[in-house]
Amino acid sequence: VKGGFDSFMDKEIHDQPKAVADTLLGRTDEKGALVLDELRIPETVLRSIDKIIVIACGTAAYSGHVAKYAIEHWCRIPVEVELAHEFRYRDPILTPRTLVVAISQSGETMDTLMAVRHAREQGAYVLAIVNTHGSTIPRESDAVLYTHAGPEVAVASTKAFLAQITACYLLGLYLAQLRGTKFPDELRETLRELQELPPKIQQVLDGEGYVREVAQAMKDEPSFLFLGRHVGYPVALEGALKLKEIAYIHAEGFAAGELKHGPIALIEEGQPVFVVVPSPRGRDQLHSKIVSNIQEVRARGARTLVIAEEGDEAVVPYADIIFRVPQTATLMSPLVAVVPLQIFASELAKAKGLDVDQPRNLAKSVTVE
Ligand code: M6R
Repeated sequence: VKGGFDSFMDKEIHDQPKAVADTLLGRTDEKGALVLDELRIPETVLRSIDKIIVIACGTAAYSGHVAKYAIEHWCRIPVEVELAHEFRYRDPILTPRTLVVAISQSGETMDTLMAVRHAREQGAYVLAIVNTHGSTIPRESDAVLYTHAGPEVAVASTKAFLAQITACYLLGLYLAQLRGTKFPDELRETLRELQELPPKIQQVLDGEGYVREVAQAMKDEPSFLFLGRHVGYPVALEGALKLKEIAYIHAEGFAAGELKHGPIALIEEGQPVFVVVPSPRGRDQLHSKIVSNIQEVRARGARTLVIAEEGDEAVVPYADIIFRVPQTATLMSPLVAVVPLQIFASELAKAKGLDVDQPRNLAKSVTVE
């Protein structure tokens, strides 16, 4: 059942190129335009949206956090991302022009379901992005866009995360196509970048041996910090969550820009810090900013584990360990950058002799409050 892997989590990590490819499959026409008729949301509704609110929990919420950067950039629609359990107990401002996107692997998470009900009661349109067919959340939503990751068994979510980002990106590109906020050429180019990801994810998997070696050597570390900027920030949060939930190690993710606002006080001699580095080819200053952050923590004694693109030499002087990922456009980078973090957590948990698939105190789907 585990396909020759030690755990379902490892199998599911290796399923990721297929999870992304399958989620993309059949959603474009012969001219390369996106076709999401399956949404069955009237085009008039999609054209009139003036705000998107993503509701989800845990890893699913981090996928929404990644998507916020992309959808705002492509569609010029404001996107808020909110934990479902916070959303449902406040008085959110929703109108018929608000699109609420509920993301869930299981489709059964109680808080997300309650948030869906809360949103619909107030007249918002709810689109579910869900992996499990026949589950409750899509049944109670106005529309559904399925992720095609296949069944996810391990408590720690991996392939569902990548498939959720992919589905959110399809939604964002579809909205941009419909609303004309991106030129058709740009849209095709972005879609092509997305379609090129499965072999790139495979490339990261092919290099997993080194990540596993490092993880084994670090199995007795009491704490890890994770830093990222832009889309690398939710990747940092996700890397920390993986380590907490299956290896029971204190781990915290931060936006790298926050360092000087507090977290840098935690850095002492030997503290391991993961840093998710964006592409040096991006047009913004993201890359140079994060290289400065690596220098800052290194100067205070941190041991830096850097996720960086192939060919990015600027990080070399400040990295104790480098996990290389293939070159991608910035918005595509989470789909490769998170993979070494998943492998690291899985291997470290295994090295500690823990049950990787069934961590203590956790359930695969949280159907109670
Ligand atoms: O089934 P869902 O996607 O709604 O589940 C949401 C979270 O409970 C889930 O992502 C959880 O955080 C995972 N254990 C993370 O690995």
